[in-house]
Amino acid sequence: MKNIAVVTPTKQYPILLEQSFDGLANVIKEQKLSDRKMCIIADKNVDKLYKEVVKKELQTVTDEVYCYCFSAGEQHKNLETIRNFYEFYQQNRFDRKTVIIALGGGVCGDMAGFSAATYLRGIPFVQIPTTLLAQVDSSVGGKTGVDFHGAKNNIGAFYQPEFVYINTSTLKTLPKREFSAGMAEVIKYGCILSKDFFQYLQQQKQDILSMQHDVLSEMIKQCCLLKADVVSKDEKESGLREILNFGHTIGHAIETVLDFQLLHGECVGLGMLAVLELARERGQVTEQELKKVQELLAYFELPLSINQVSKERIYQQMFLDKKVKQNKIRFVLPKGIGEVYTTSEVSENEIMKAIDFVVKI
Ligand code: NAD
Ligand code: GLY
Repeated sequence: MKNIAVVTPTKQYPILLEQSFDGLANVIKEQKLSDRKMCIIADKNVDKLYKEVVKKELQTVTDEVYCYCFSAGEQHKNLETIRNFYEFYQQNRFDRKTVIIALGGGVCGDMAGFSAATYLRGIPFVQIPTTLLAQVDSSVGGKTGVDFHGAKNNIGAFYQPEFVYINTSTLKTLPKREFSAGMAEVIKYGCILSKDFFQYLQQQKQDILSMQHDVLSEMIKQCCLLKADVVSKDEKESGLREILNFGHTIGHAIETVLDFQLLHGECVGLGMLAVLELARERGQVTEQELKKVQELLAYFELPLSINQVSKERIYQQMFLDKKVKQNKIRFVLPKGIGEVYTTSEVSENEIMKAIDFVVKI
């Protein structure tokens, strides 16, 4: 078992890296969460694949397991779905000891977490991420929430889980496109925090693509270590944590303008390329470094550009971003590979050129 600790002012909790669900009941016992109502929240796809095995495991530590299934997809990440969760919680008389089990990708984790943060002013929840994106990013760090009127994650709360249980074998059923989308967030860690990790990804790309177990597991562990470190230093994004938004300012705008036709990770990849180009124009990234990131994204079949989208709409959409302060958009910009800085001092001309780099007519 590989354990990683997240230590924040509001909570200290472990991330467990496993290859099956067999250890889940033990962790629940260790965390003193047995013998109470538990509710698995999963979308329809994950419900079909993994609900029963998780339910069986939970039934060894409690007599009361409930399950709630919602429609899959980012378009359902909204307050209407949360309202349905609350109704189910109330109908079944969930109380402050009830544990919500978020079983699924980032959409499930963000929503189940938000419902747990707000129901009865906060009930415990557990993250069991089943997509690569959720295993390396969204399940760790306590960002929960939903989209609102075309703005990504604009309603939400920082609310940490009791623990994160990663069963890497769930990735075997993940559609290839979803795996690739997760790789964009993996590559992000290399770009923002570690040149060594970026090089590791370049060297191991074949084994990663063929899902060679040890390499995959090591890669996920490294991402969790990097994220746990950032979140432990800055839980509520008052400074350092902003770097995790690398590629997200333009990425989120593309995601919403395209009405979620592209996956979150795909848009993050495009957003990363856009800011790399912006930094290249500033002389802070070389042509060669930009190419390396492009090549790695392309290797995992992530889009390098899109077309037939209004650049002006993408630009305007960016002002709805959570990170806008006094009408100025916050950017995370690279300095080579493995280092970034944050700034609001980016001109409209620079932004439009960056968008031009990934949006072709
Ligand atoms: P997702 O949750 O929609 O999952 C993607 C698809 O994969 C879904 O159709 C799902 O049913 C399916 N799926 C999940 N696990 C599977 C498995 N093991 N086998 C087969 N199918 C499976 O999307 P995602 O990419 O996991 O998450 C994206 C969301 O995460 C976005 O809403 C984004 O805003 C959010 N996010 C949050 C954070 C955070 O810190 N909270 C960080 C990054 C992204
Ligand atoms: N994915 C950005 C963060 O967790 O802060």
